[in-house]
Amino acid sequence: MNIQFICNNALIETDQSPSTTLLDFIRKELKYTGAKEGCREGDCGACAVLIGELKNDKIIYKTINSCLTPLAAANGKHVVTIEGLNLYELSLIQQVFVREGAAQCGFCTPGFIVAFTGFLLSSYNLSVDEAIDSIAGNLCRCTGHYSIIRAIKNILDEVQINNLSSAQRLKKLVDLNIIPEYFLNIKNKLESFKKEQPLTETNDDASFTIAGGTDLYVQQGYKLTREKNILIHLKISDESIRISDNNCFINAAVTIEDFSNSEIIKAIFPNVKEFANLFGSLPIRNRATVGGNIINASPIADITSLLLVLDAVLIFSNKGSVREVKLSDFYKGYKQFDKLPEEILSSVYFEVPSGNYNISYEKVSKRLHLDIASVNTTMFIITDDNRISAVRISAGGVAPIPMLLKKTSVFLTGKQISEETVKEASSIAAEEIKPISDIRGSAQYKMLLLNRLILAHFIKLHPELFEEVTL
Ligand SMILES: Cc1cc2nc3c(=O)[nH]c(=O)nc-3n(C[C@H](O)[C@H](O)[C@H](O)COP(=O)(O)OP(=O)(O)OC[C@H]3O[C@@H](n4cnc5c(N)ncnc54)[C@H](O)[C@@H]3O)c2cc1C
Ligand code: FES
Ligand code: FES
Repeated sequence: MNIQFICNNALIETDQSPSTTLLDFIRKELKYTGAKEGCREGDCGACAVLIGELKNDKIIYKTINSCLTPLAAANGKHVVTIEGLNLYELSLIQQVFVREGAAQCGFCTPGFIVAFTGFLLSSYNLSVDEAIDSIAGNLCRCTGHYSIIRAIKNILDEVQINNLSSAQRLKKLVDLNIIPEYFLNIKNKLESFKKEQPLTETNDDASFTIAGGTDLYVQQGYKLTREKNILIHLKISDESIRISDNNCFINAAVTIEDFSNSEIIKAIFPNVKEFANLFGSLPIRNRATVGGNIINASPIADITSLLLVLDAVLIFSNKGSVREVKLSDFYKGYKQFDKLPEEILSSVYFEVPSGNYNISYEKVSKRLHLDIASVNTTMFIITDDNRISAVRISAGGVAPIPMLLKKTSVFLTGKQISEETVKEASSIAAEEIKPISDIRGSAQYKMLLLNRLILAHFIKLHPELFEEVTL
């Protein structure tokens, strides 16, 4: 199958391996060298490009790290590199960067310009905080981030695009010289692509399944780019997250960003945005999937931590047959789980919680943002007049697998919330876990962290009961 997409204003068709990285393809084949290879691990944003997809009659542009993205993900879409933003002259964003001294050696600059252009094209919320979040995945080693932030604030002041329809916004961005005029014709071109080519290729003897690729390309990028026989699992149905019979179904290919923007998820877990903001940078969240987070089986996987306390069930498909496994029974040992190699995780579901419940999430990492956890934990709790009627606590980074603290949860059920109860619960948790010393901290440190984080859950939810306690 040939891969067909628009790169900037040119139609591209290629028979290159679908697992080639988009970065390699645009640099080596298309000779667009503005996107740089910095870390090749999703950490620096030098390789950032926009990927625009037709959804509900409009194009949604997202910033992605092209170093971790398979070429197949571009199929049927519009890829924008820095070269596609300034065809004949510097764009307004570039001019302001120059004016504010926000570019020096220039290695990072294309990534910043692309990411901020993506923000202006597609963000619902045009606040300064969101604008800064949009470039949180970009690192500058020489200019310093203050001049970049100053440039961005100045542009936000100059650009008034609130309350415009997406077509009006596109036109305004063209008029302001933020994007070139050819963007106005891209929608027609995407529509005219023949009915979207299937995004799930199921060759029986495929050796890899790639969803977002944010973990696979970091771990096995070299091998993947040389593989011919790859199963690319990218299919996202229109009903990616839906409620049916009081169960919430999430397509495994839903990205972390779409998960956190879902009105259904926000209704169930109102703090999901804050939770997601601790999960990688926006370009990572734009690609990383819920299914990838589960099957990756990292002991500190954040979405898994949440799904464990929601008592989620996994649905696997395998050539027409379907199998269900409870997430809490899924992991068997470090990176070992109850899944046949040929099975694909198609979706995950949980019963929509009701009653007086709360979900609390705590994560400690070396940096507050954009870092994987040393220890994370989620608590789902239903209380009745400070008495716990139901509770589930998960813990990550304290064992070879993401854990549901079953004994701790059973102990807490039926108890009155108090400092004493939480102390006892923490002691039981300490017996359930098996932390090891590694780069993220010593076993003793992780044990102490979990102890404090369990207390933090309760202090956050019931500060009035813990006035005397300090963390
Ligand atoms: C810079 C950076 C920051 C990160 N930050 C975080 C963080 O804060 N928190 C966190 O939890 N993780 C983080 N991650 C890890 C990673 O992004 C997540 O685990 C992500 O959810 C993986 O999803 P993916 O779709 O990219 O998986 P992929 O890399 O595509 O796949 C991961 C594994 O799952 C398998 N797989 C994927 N989907 C399916 C499926 N449907 N059926 C069967 N097998 C499947 C793949 O074969 C592979 O073995 C980070 C990664 C990077 C590079
Ligand atoms: S090269 Fe650093 S994020 Fe891609
Ligand atoms: S200007 Fe040199 S790395 Fe940012």
